[in-house]
Amino acid sequence: QELQMNLEQIEKGGYEHFMLKEIHEQPKAITDTYRGRLLRNEAIIKMAGVEDNMKRFLNANRIIIVACGTSWHAGLVAEYIFEDLARIPVEVEYASEFRYRNPVIGENDVVIAISQSGETADTLAAIKLAKSKGAFVFGVCNVVGSSIAREADAGAYTHAGPEIGVASTKAFTTQITVLTLMALRLARAKGTISSSDFRQHLLELELIPKKVEEALESDAHIKMIADIYKNSRNCLYLGRGFNFPVALEGALKLKEISYIHAEGYPAAEMKHGPIALIDENMPIVVIATKKGHYEKVVSNIQEIKSRKGKIIGIVTEGDTQVRDLADHVIEVPDTLESLSPLLTTIPLQLLSYHIAVLLGKNVDQPRNLAKSVTVE
Ligand code: AGP
Repeated sequence: QELQMNLEQIEKGGYEHFMLKEIHEQPKAITDTYRGRLLRNEAIIKMAGVEDNMKRFLNANRIIIVACGTSWHAGLVAEYIFEDLARIPVEVEYASEFRYRNPVIGENDVVIAISQSGETADTLAAIKLAKSKGAFVFGVCNVVGSSIAREADAGAYTHAGPEIGVASTKAFTTQITVLTLMALRLARAKGTISSSDFRQHLLELELIPKKVEEALESDAHIKMIADIYKNSRNCLYLGRGFNFPVALEGALKLKEISYIHAEGYPAAEMKHGPIALIDENMPIVVIATKKGHYEKVVSNIQEIKSRKGKIIGIVTEGDTQVRDLADHVIEVPDTLESLSPLLTTIPLQLLSYHIAVLLGKNVDQPRNLAKSVTVE
């Protein structure tokens, strides 16, 4: 028993929980993900799985992404990135809906399955269905040799290292990293990105681990905010564009480990319903980084403020406009808009972590949840 406890302590590397360890591992995990693939000096991206199947990607009518949970959120971020950079139409599907819907799918479709564990039953069934219809299936998995990795025609591993905490953290950011590399590689091949833009993306992507480290420095400040809101019954998360899926992911993280009801919305949808929920007891996390519809998000924040909602703004370093309006701000470093989810996600992970710990919940093994859902 004692030996087992010690072993677990060692595995946690000095952190109180696996989740916190994995949150802090993200700078290294992202670096491991792009190592050997992002070759900035040569201004190329090397991904064997993409290279060997370039024709299938370039001839694709569309890309269909299938996944569940957090991996589905990474797919949503990828939709924005693929469409923006590579101009390929993308659909993102819950694997569980896709497989039972009699989907229209054929030989000119590329299906990307995203799965940390590579064992999620619905995702595995979705790709079997897609293969049987002649689609080309590409897997983005973390666990090497997993069922989805084996079933796919080709793929790219995330190289995040083992993720033990049930709440997915480093798997999410490394999935986004792999998908960004793919989108950039395809954009280059299709000529939908200029060489200077391409180089700038490589440079900025290479800087992300350093910037994640900076974002992690807000930990104590986030813990203080967590303490203020830990007894809330509900919480809203808002974001636009590339950061809309991050709002969904932030809400999922809070739900799964703290059992506080949380919902994510595209910020502009607020006035189509959720705004009715806002009063002085509602904390609202708003992702309001400088690029991408900033002014529009600021006006959403004003609407929340006039209804007395409590605003926690995720802002770009040095921001003053949101700071003046919000109850709290958490800063992240500046980067390209398309890469910003890799940074805005970090404070949301820490916020849910601290709330759950302050509430005395079992962070690494929340009730009713399993690390990989191998049954329907
Ligand atoms: C994330 O925090 C979850 N625990 C869960 O949504 C997870 O992302 C989902 O079950 C998919 O798992 P996979 O990536 O292993 O396929």
